[in-house]
Amino acid sequence: MYNVTLIPGDGIGPEVTDAVKEVIAAAGVEIDWEEVNAGTNVMEEYGTPLPEEVLESIKKNKVALKGPITTPVGSGFRSVNVAIRQKLDLYVNLRPAKILAGAPTKFEGLDVVIFRENTEGLYAGIEHNVGDDAAESIKITTRKASERIVRAAFEYAQENDREQVTAVHKANILKLSDGLFKEVAEEVAEDYPNIEFNNKIVDNMCMQLVQYPEDYDVLVLPNLYGDIVSDLCAGLIGGLGLTPGANLNDELAVFEAVHGSAPDIAGENKANPIAILLSSCLMLDHLGEETAAQNIESAIEEVLQEAEVLTGDLGGNASTDEITNEIISKLD
Ligand code: NAI
Ligand code: MG
Repeated sequence: MYNVTLIPGDGIGPEVTDAVKEVIAAAGVEIDWEEVNAGTNVMEEYGTPLPEEVLESIKKNKVALKGPITTPVGSGFRSVNVAIRQKLDLYVNLRPAKILAGAPTKFEGLDVVIFRENTEGLYAGIEHNVGDDAAESIKITTRKASERIVRAAFEYAQENDREQVTAVHKANILKLSDGLFKEVAEEVAEDYPNIEFNNKIVDNMCMQLVQYPEDYDVLVLPNLYGDIVSDLCAGLIGGLGLTPGANLNDELAVFEAVHGSAPDIAGENKANPIAILLSSCLMLDHLGEETAAQNIESAIEEVLQEAEVLTGDLGGNASTDEITNEIISKLD
């Protein structure tokens, strides 16, 4: 029995997190979910989209599964998601992007793991107007944050038999900030002589991922590039409905899909639960339940390959409940 914090979130969050509870129970893993909530849905009751009890619960249980959260207008928060990452110092945003068997995509061979720096860069939130007709946003790059994210990428590569780490930047233009990131990456790489290391400029990286996806393995990027490149990879593997993620530090782990609250389809039983299910597989791996994680991932691949029960984003017309039951029916 594991104690895990569950944050259903906004929009399609409750629908897709319900699917996770059902699938994990059907896979035979017992989880005692401690449900707390954040987002626009709790604004009225708590006067804030991020009640303290949410952070306390994550700190206590050390593991959380989080649905997407709509960024509430006028709450003083730029983004509740960014606030959770920054307040808990979840410095790694892990976003694996692998083309699953049967996934609806014309691309082949992509199996990368993205390590996005999660605490600084252009997401530090330091912005101001300069008079009426200009604005400035400040990009923060520190040696400490750069070093720990690059090290996390190399440690992951070592533990998971990955052969290559690519540091992605724009150091040719941002000579100081991205220059520091690149320099730190080169230094850390020296500690891992068995892992091939290379550098790519972010715009070239985007083109390379589309043209030669099979050439890349583990990618490590500053915050903004990581955000953008992970959506690019989501497109390559078949869409946001298939892309899992996790926010990690050395102690805490918050698992969530890459997608948002999808207000256009919320409450209609149309959302694809696969992205958050794959996030829950990362969570099961983290808990040491690798067999259950593999069982769920294989069931998802079988459903994709059969292509009979698929949600709208995957080209079908099944409901969230129908695809969830179909996945459950394929579990060993
Ligand atoms: P979105 O990811 O919510 O939606 C983009 C498009 O993808 C929409 O057409 C949506 O219907 C579709 N989509 C997303 N997830 C899907 C799923 N599981 N199944 C089927 N279709 C899916 O991005 P958008 O519209 O830019 O953001 C909506 C809200 O979500 C915003 O308030 C944003 O701030 C928030 N957001 C939250 C995130 C988080 O909690 N980590 C991440 C991204 C956005
Ligand atoms: Mg994003």
